[in-house]
Amino acid sequence: ETYKEDYRPQYHFTPEKNWMNDPNGLVYYDGEYHLFYQHNPKGNEWGYMHWGHAISTDLVHWENYPIALYPDNNSEDKVECTAYSGSAIVDEKNLLGKQQGDTKTLVAFYTSQHCGQRIAYSTDKGRNWEKYENNPIIAVDEKDDARDPKVIWHEPSQKWVMALYRKSTDSDNSKGVSFYTSDNLVNWEWKSHIHGFYECPDLVKFKVENRPDETVWVLFDGDGSYLLGNFDGEAFTPISGKMKSDWGKNYYATQTWSNIPASDGRTIQIAWMRGGEYPDMPFNGQMTFPSELSVRHFPSGYKLIRKPIREIETIQKKILEIEDKNVIPGINDNKVKKASGDCLRIVGEFDLKTSDNFGFMVRNSVKKPGTEILYNVKRGTLSVMGITIPLLPVDNKIQLDILLDRASIEVFANDGQTVISNCFTPDLKSNGLVLFTNGGELGIDKLDIYEIKSVWD
Ligand code: FRU
Repeated sequence: ETYKEDYRPQYHFTPEKNWMNDPNGLVYYDGEYHLFYQHNPKGNEWGYMHWGHAISTDLVHWENYPIALYPDNNSEDKVECTAYSGSAIVDEKNLLGKQQGDTKTLVAFYTSQHCGQRIAYSTDKGRNWEKYENNPIIAVDEKDDARDPKVIWHEPSQKWVMALYRKSTDSDNSKGVSFYTSDNLVNWEWKSHIHGFYECPDLVKFKVENRPDETVWVLFDGDGSYLLGNFDGEAFTPISGKMKSDWGKNYYATQTWSNIPASDGRTIQIAWMRGGEYPDMPFNGQMTFPSELSVRHFPSGYKLIRKPIREIETIQKKILEIEDKNVIPGINDNKVKKASGDCLRIVGEFDLKTSDNFGFMVRNSVKKPGTEILYNVKRGTLSVMGITIPLLPVDNKIQLDILLDRASIEVFANDGQTVISNCFTPDLKSNGLVLFTNGGELGIDKLDIYEIKSVWD
């Protein structure tokens, strides 16, 4: 049965069938979150890129819609003029002049591979899409390999700004992001270029969480890394080096939703979990669970914080609650034995006490040990699936928020300071959950385990 398959994620977005990569055109309008995505309707591998489309009213349950964007030359070519990644905005002021009645036009900016940056628009809340008649809006320049336009509104300068991946500018030859500005969404003027960036840029302004008078801009790169800085509407001036927003193996081509109402005020991001394996599945690819981003100030400087969006609470059901208990070494003291399952959220705060290391085994069985999430107290590191990263306790405590789905594990540590997003292929017969400590006693200050309901029911 579709959406019930063994390796089908139950609360992470997947296409009904065939290939998916980057999230595209994330925009909120009139109660609906749009998610477009790089899609090959012809098969389970990359190629023939179209924009697939799904709509949600809560960022959790998605309804599939027909393909929104098709390649531009009606050919059967795998690459030429196919619809590569991009973004979308709401044309509040009807700059494009396409508005029908009171419904604002949605405008998508996308790369037509080797055929320039282009516009498509919808006058019926994203249901039907037309290509703009004077495409491309930025002509192709064969040597620059430009792609992935992300368009945002820059309030202080009252201009639209486009961040575009490009190999070169007139003055230098480096891979990076070029910034363009526009008054009308159609004519774009090149302003500046910053080196050292790859694909799928995104540009977001944040109020600092714990210093409300300060703002900082974040320039995201396709590989999940980011740079902190200032943006004056034309150029980005870094105040940090490149930092990682995710340490996992499968976090790529991030994008944030545009036009989230001010009354909500959140910055919500989603990424393609590049590289997963889904044996014998009708689809290939999944998105991360949407996360809320913020910037927090630490003694060492600003840092991006990322947590699962609170809407997850609407699909979770508590199955185990532990408070103020100690765990001792040995398999006989598995306090979470009753909480087995393939779709879980595990939220806990642990007092390191005398433990040398502690962790969870998910999708575990006696015959086949599951996947381990390990905190090494002595080394001060967190490890998941071969990835080991530094993580320091706060007041001798480690906080973990783990999202387990049928083909992914996302670990948010210490209140969103460190995230590891990984795909995995579990043993289908193993559903056990183990909490262990080695070397000494571990304290559970608080531990809540939830079963996550399928969003496809
Ligand atoms: C990133 C990317 C983008 C491009 C798209 C093509 O994964 O390579 O740069 O627009 O995928 O599918």
